[in-house]
Amino acid sequence: MKLHVWFSPLGLGPADVQGRTIFVIDVLRATTVMCAALHNGARAIIPVASTEEALRLAQTIGSADVLLAGEKNCVRIPGFALGNSPLEMTEPTVKGKTIVLTTTNGTKALLAAQGAAAVYVAAAANLTLAGERAREALEQNRSVLILCAGRETAFGLDDAYCAGRLAAVAIGGHRPRKGLNDAGLASLDLVRRYGDDWSRPLSYSSAGRELARLGFREDVLDAGRLDAYPVLPQFHERRVTVAPQSPFQAAPPQPQPQPS
Ligand code: MLT
Repeated sequence: MKLHVWFSPLGLGPADVQGRTIFVIDVLRATTVMCAALHNGARAIIPVASTEEALRLAQTIGSADVLLAGEKNCVRIPGFALGNSPLEMTEPTVKGKTIVLTTTNGTKALLAAQGAAAVYVAAAANLTLAGERAREALEQNRSVLILCAGRETAFGLDDAYCAGRLAAVAIGGHRPRKGLNDAGLASLDLVRRYGDDWSRPLSYSSAGRELARLGFREDVLDAGRLDAYPVLPQFHERRVTVAPQSPFQAAPPQPQPQPS
């Protein structure tokens, strides 16, 4: 088993992503937003690195079905239809739409994972689905990386706790020491510390405190709702869409011809 956790994408290069199955976490709030949007019927999310790129891309696509979304310093970018709140991603707003999204850390972490064998989006909102996919990958001897977006390339308690929860589902009852890096062990220690209470690590984190200060306390609560948006987003060919069925599952047995 090889399951590594990185607390931020700092230093992550092509050699670190190549061949790996990566789960990107930015629980406050970008990956929660992606789960909410796809669960509520968005067609796709296109993560981009900057406001300028988002504007350019929306113009190139030039369709009324495109929504610009994202934040700078947690606040909606002026002129954009949506900010970065899961509560904005309601069905009437996002159904059938393609969302071009740019955020401070979350979209950058996703873009840093490009080139991996597979890239999935994880949060509390889809923990069970993401954890099961990670477990299947490990069972197939894939190298799995849980990549936290962190805050400005630094450790974020919210993402690190979520990484521990995801790792715990992925390894199931197995004794984790072998194959887990130090950040993976530390993330499991956070799970021992906070148990299954999402509210403490999320609201104690610097991202959680900043969001509360800016009036987004409801978002912090929403981001801690386990399996609230049960969908598994996959980042593939520059778009985040609902993942197709597991590539790791064996094909169903073919019916055998009956002897006559
Ligand atoms: C990020 O990408 O840094 C966060 O999702 C920011 C936020 O919550 O607005």
